[in-house]
Amino acid sequence: MHLIETRYLCYSYKTTPALWHVNFTAERKQKIAVIGANGAGKSTLFKHFCGILHPSSGEIRIRGELVTKKNLKEVRKTVGVVFQNPDDQIFSVTVEQDIAFGPTNLGLDTETVKHRVSHAMDLLSVSHLASRPPHQLSGGEKKRVAIAGVLAMEPSVLVLDEATAGLDPKGVRDLMAFLQRLPEEFGMTVIFATHHTDLVIELADIVYVLDNGTVAAVGSVTEIFSQFELLDRLGIDLPSIPLLHKRLQERGVPIPMAYSVDESLALLTQWNHQGGGQQEL
Ligand SMILES: Nc1ncnc2c1ncn2[C@@H]1O[C@H](COP(=O)(O)OP(=O)(O)OP(=O)(O)O)[C@@H](O)[C@H]1O
Ligand SMILES: [Mg+2]
Repeated sequence: MHLIETRYLCYSYKTTPALWHVNFTAERKQKIAVIGANGAGKSTLFKHFCGILHPSSGEIRIRGELVTKKNLKEVRKTVGVVFQNPDDQIFSVTVEQDIAFGPTNLGLDTETVKHRVSHAMDLLSVSHLASRPPHQLSGGEKKRVAIAGVLAMEPSVLVLDEATAGLDPKGVRDLMAFLQRLPEEFGMTVIFATHHTDLVIELADIVYVLDNGTVAAVGSVTEIFSQFELLDRLGIDLPSIPLLHKRLQERGVPIPMAYSVDESLALLTQWNHQGGGQQEL
């Protein structure tokens, strides 16, 4: 049984088809990236994970249970989605109340809610904003508050749509380090959409590539980012490290592909020791 499974999921917004025969699975502790151009269907897929949208045809199951309008409460306990635009998610008078909204709705007692809210604010470094009105925060602060609100519900799956949009470089680094810890420390599954492929190679175990509502490819970072033609056709950037190695190969440097800084450094050092550094590029 999969934690999340879609089978032949199709969805149309009235007359606009958005997803077609999408087969997607997520397991416990996986880190899954969903990439694709604007309009590829990433947000539409994520809205099925928490039952905001229901398939036009095909199905979605969470822990084997078909998602229907009747079991939405259970589904939202399991899957927490941070939407692309934090304004869609933030509506209380203070940050603290906003983060408390989800856990309170789960019917938890006041003490537990208080504990979860303070823990989530701590994890996302927003404790100092607790009494501020959320609509007056900066974009990046709003994003962190929205993530804290979802985390306070302690879902098994954290879904982030455009996770890093609006965050400054330190905010991006902190969030990536934080997401990296979630599977090991809390047994969580992380599913995220982003246009920043450098973040994908840093974090993802599995990558889904969406094109025009269909799954164009699925595989490991290595399997996906070696498909140069597909990525080029879909307008998806190669991450910096494989791009560097591809450019070197094109200039005749006999160096294998690399997908991480450490891998690249080891290969370049080896190449240099073999006298390659003398070569004209
Ligand atoms: N509320 C809506 N009503 C009608 N069509 C919509 C609606 N939301 C999305 N669409 C259409 O559905 C398709 C998929 O959109 P979706 O928002 O899922 O793409 P996305 O991959 O998240 O794109 P982005 O990278 O821009 O966030 C697009 O053709 C889009 O125009
Ligand atoms: Mg989107």
